[in-house]
Amino acid sequence: MKYPIRLNKYKWGSLFTKYLPSAYDPRKVAQENLSRNEFSQSVSAFCFDNVYKITKSDRHPLTNSYLSTLFAKPTIVDIGASDGTTSMDVMEACHGNFSHYYITDLNMEVSYYHSKNTYYFFNDKDECILMANNYFVIYPGDKESVALFKFFAKKIYKLFVDSGKTKTKVQLVNPELKKCGDSITVKKFDIFDTWDGDKADIVIVANLLNKCYFSDENIVKALHNVFSFIKNPGYLAVIHDLQGEKACIFRIEKDEIFLEKEINGGVEVKNLVLGAFSSKAN
Ligand SMILES: C[S@@+](CC[C@H](N)C(=O)[O-])C[C@H]1O[C@@H](n2cnc3c(N)ncnc32)[C@H](O)[C@@H]1O
Repeated sequence: MKYPIRLNKYKWGSLFTKYLPSAYDPRKVAQENLSRNEFSQSVSAFCFDNVYKITKSDRHPLTNSYLSTLFAKPTIVDIGASDGTTSMDVMEACHGNFSHYYITDLNMEVSYYHSKNTYYFFNDKDECILMANNYFVIYPGDKESVALFKFFAKKIYKLFVDSGKTKTKVQLVNPELKKCGDSITVKKFDIFDTWDGDKADIVIVANLLNKCYFSDENIVKALHNVFSFIKNPGYLAVIHDLQGEKACIFRIEKDEIFLEKEINGGVEVKNLVLGAFSSKAN
């Protein structure tokens, strides 16, 4: 992240936030009764190990609509689903016709303390990953930022953060998911770790397997892992939509992989996916 000090959209008007680095107000995740969109916006301000939790509803409607035609009652595993709002879109596109939906993400909770309007958020290693007041959102631990910003972010961290304070945990899971019934499971899952849920008819990985987040080698490692729990036949949807929806939907059948459908030119990792399947251990 280049700019670890950003304007908090809570106070600044669009005239400023359109041109200067800004973030939605992360403090709202600590409030109750937020709407689905307000919660997703607030979660989008969080960044763990240089991967943002950015999400919003209706990000990939073309892919959702295609996926809804593949099986009558699929088991779906959504990896890196952030707060689950895009998972709800898939469920809606399927009209609720799925046998089970796993909403998974590596970063599902933060802890925080606050002093008046300033909130300090911590990851599960008790490192402060975010500070926010009415005017600014600050990412003190970022390694890839512009030197001057990094300098000030670190100074602010040293001056203000008190890791010893008592903290409250908050789940970064959209409250609307409570209305989705028993056919969903929300769980922490690292795409590099062994999957212990049911095998999937459809695996969805949206805005995670990007070359700006992971090396090719790690993308292939993650894919080898994912292939181990997709049924045969089954489908893998890889979606990127930072500049408009793009997706590749792969079909796995009789231990071969086929590019079933490309949406808007497909994704940059298409050949990595095809190659990873051929190189996977049987
Ligand atoms: C940019 S968000 C995409 C969210 C959602 N899929 C969407 O398209 O709106 C990427 C998500 O991947 C999660 N993530 C990062 N590393 C991960 C990993 N190793 N395994 C699983 N999820 C991971 C992040 O916590 C974040 O929520």
